[in-house]
Amino acid sequence: MGDGGGYGGRDEHGKRGERGDKTAGKRRSSFFRTKSVEQSLKDTEEPEHTLKKSLSALDLTVFGVGVVIGTGIFVLTGKVAKDNAGPSVALAFVVSGIVCALAALCYAEFASTVPVAGSAYTFSFATLGELPAWIIGWDLVLELALGCAVVSVGWSGYIRSLMDNLGWQLPTALSGSTDTAFHFDLLAFLLVLVLTGILVAGMKLSARVTTVIVAIKVAVVLVVIVVGAFFINADNYEPFIPPAKQVTGTEAGLGAPLIQLMTGFQPAQFGVMGIFTAAAVVFFAYIGFDIVATAAEETRNPQRDVPRGILGSLLICTILYVGVSVVVTGMQKYTELSVDAPLADAFKAVGHPFWAGLISFGAAVGLTTVCMILLLGQSRVFFAMSRDGLLPRFFSRVHPKAGTPYRSILLLGAVVAVVAGCTSISELAELVNIGTLFAFIVVAIGVVVLRRTRPDLPRSFRTPLVPWVPVVSVLATFWLMLNLPAETWLRFAIWMAAGFVVYFAYGHRHSRLRVPQRDR
Ligand code: ALA
Repeated sequence: MGDGGGYGGRDEHGKRGERGDKTAGKRRSSFFRTKSVEQSLKDTEEPEHTLKKSLSALDLTVFGVGVVIGTGIFVLTGKVAKDNAGPSVALAFVVSGIVCALAALCYAEFASTVPVAGSAYTFSFATLGELPAWIIGWDLVLELALGCAVVSVGWSGYIRSLMDNLGWQLPTALSGSTDTAFHFDLLAFLLVLVLTGILVAGMKLSARVTTVIVAIKVAVVLVVIVVGAFFINADNYEPFIPPAKQVTGTEAGLGAPLIQLMTGFQPAQFGVMGIFTAAAVVFFAYIGFDIVATAAEETRNPQRDVPRGILGSLLICTILYVGVSVVVTGMQKYTELSVDAPLADAFKAVGHPFWAGLISFGAAVGLTTVCMILLLGQSRVFFAMSRDGLLPRFFSRVHPKAGTPYRSILLLGAVVAVVAGCTSISELAELVNIGTLFAFIVVAIGVVVLRRTRPDLPRSFRTPLVPWVPVVSVLATFWLMLNLPAETWLRFAIWMAAGFVVYFAYGHRHSRLRVPQRDR
């Protein structure tokens, strides 16, 4: 089934698909016209719009781990243990991991059936129609871009802390500090620009750079687990699930999880509900495994390797996260954990600054790949949308030598660099989460729809127990979304409303399903 060999019957299916589309076009509203799976695959073969197929299952797993382990485990663990869950943050990682595993089973089927750049965007175009595909594409570009900006700012913080150790300091105005009237995060800005250059140069180079960095990052995480285990004090696990504590002020208003406001109880932290609130936040730590699916078109044998890459990276990360959170909350009382660099500071707290320095270094190195792959993922979604005419086709030309969609990478890299330079982290991570969870729901629904509308398509990976696994995936994902703050829902709604304006002003009128002959 490698290198397209598995699509031997594609032409025959393709003709059927196109005929099917025409009839479907008459029956359906143009907002729900679908792009056939065959058309998606055929587009990837146009010479000027074709990405290089160079990735293997191992490359994909490394990519997955490379993007997944990042700010979530290195930074959010401390904050969430301190504010929401105490030592039971380990359970929050399990809850979040289960939600992701369910979604991964759906993503894997889709990615192995529709191995085309664009992830959930492409999948929903093939199943739900143009408007839902636009919504998801718009959602993904925002979330991946914002995710990249958030991580680059976190990276910059670690680098500054390392520079501090060496006695070097940047001028306050350039260090992202909000203490001065003018503030710009120079390091975050530069990081995004450098990574943009690497991505333009080509996938294989990116994969090689990633491999080395991922090795360092995983080694550092293992150091935390193995060395840290010697400093665990069992007293720190008492109470494992701290009792619920009521909150007031903004935390009880729009800042409270939507589910708590909906149920009318006085919003609270900790307790059993605290585990779910924590799970909705540490979900950020898992974001990225789905991006493996966005690289499907650049994979040598997508039918076999994409599911392996997605599920493999997810499993490795879940084990590491649970290990790290159990160890760190055992080393230091959850109330005393640091919110900026909890892993490193736990080692300082037990009197081992050497290990702390090493961990800070690994975190700084590791966050680089997270940024790079988030940037890669979003440029590919943007690329796919542009190839379909929903965004200007100018952005979907690939570089004649490097084989990369350099125009979309350059545009998005520049925008993300500026956002990273000017924005502070905090609430943005939650906005990233809600967008990604929303994409999970669309993908799970898409699996069921595609099984009904195109049972004939070859699927090298099949989601087990359809429709039950997708249904449970939708419910579990929605539950996590409800545990995010009401204000996050509000921001998300505003962004999506803006997306509708762009779609009706541009995308709908320029879609290649409407004007297929234009701008070839
Ligand atoms: N999962 C990635 C992180 O934790 C986005 O930084």
